[in-house]
Amino acid sequence: MKIGDKHYRSVWVADNGRTVEVLDQSKLPFVVDVLPLNSRDDVAKAIREMLIRGAPLIGAVGAYGVALAMTEDSSDEALQQAYDVLVETRPTAINLKWALDRIVGQLKHERPEDRVARAYAICAEIADEDVCISESIGEHGLDLIRAIALTKKQPGESVNILTHCNAGWLATVDWGTALAPIYKAHDAGIRVHIWVDETRPRNQGGLTAFELGSHGVPHTLIADNAGGHLMQHGQVDLCIVGTDRTTARGDVCNKIGTYLKALAAKANHVPFYVALPSPTIDWTAWDGVKEIPIEQRDEKEQSHVFGMGPEGRHTWVNTVPEGTVCGNYAFDVTPAELVTGLITERGICEASSEGLQKLFPEQYGEN
Ligand code: MRU
Repeated sequence: MKIGDKHYRSVWVADNGRTVEVLDQSKLPFVVDVLPLNSRDDVAKAIREMLIRGAPLIGAVGAYGVALAMTEDSSDEALQQAYDVLVETRPTAINLKWALDRIVGQLKHERPEDRVARAYAICAEIADEDVCISESIGEHGLDLIRAIALTKKQPGESVNILTHCNAGWLATVDWGTALAPIYKAHDAGIRVHIWVDETRPRNQGGLTAFELGSHGVPHTLIADNAGGHLMQHGQVDLCIVGTDRTTARGDVCNKIGTYLKALAAKANHVPFYVALPSPTIDWTAWDGVKEIPIEQRDEKEQSHVFGMGPEGRHTWVNTVPEGTVCGNYAFDVTPAELVTGLITERGICEASSEGLQKLFPEQYGEN
């Protein structure tokens, strides 16, 4: 997607053919800065400290971490070590494990001297596939938005969509998941207006506002607790969110606060859709509340707000009494029964094992 006139992906390989470059998301939305990653440990740090973030992007960049590790040492031991170090960096998004399983599984069968070239080729495949997947999600989600637009009585009335966190192109390689249908709708001339949850404590809503603003999509940033009020007053036609891990029965784990939005949507008869690429499905998990590990992060992210000070410097501002104990749960699980549908690259299905089976029969031993 574009920032100004320049098209970006959120990860790419530098001209030297080795260094991996990403946009430093800790500096966005204030400063667009390219962060070079030169080693496995650079990648591990970037994922752990959320300089890059979003489930599909974590997967793609994690795979590049293996490629960088191979440039230093392409032995079997280094390959296994790269897997072990990288898979630990963030526990909830399954895309990381999916991408590492894929690249390490394939590299194991290569001779050490062939591993570097093969690793970069696999990473490029993962990144390109992610772009195609996200774009297909956009096409399928567009149908939903178009159908709602057709119900609007007043000329020029917008479809109001609420989203949580950032599930846009910054969280994937390009397009995004929850935001892909919105970009497609906007580009197709459908009037949309987006309610953007600020998404405390990390304020990923600022990233969503940055993306939507760069693309010219009308939007309003709201406090995390505003969604229920807006739904009660008929100001939300549709919710679309992303996910970090979805179980085989359609339970959805996403950024903390998603569950409360889904409850409010159910109570107010607002359709609640989750957009996801198939690598986000954990086919081995069934009950999301019991089985998905929920990341807990540093208390400082909760006790402080991070932003740009008036002098143009990034600053942490304390908002609570010294010594306050803070809980920083990064994700929650929305049970399948609160989800109206899953928007995948293969189409839209019910959030249930039956729904998923129709779209992904090969996971059930069918052709
Ligand atoms: O902690 P983050 O910012 O990595 O969490 C991101 C989310 O929760 C997104 O909604 C999810 O990864 C889907 S991104 C397409």
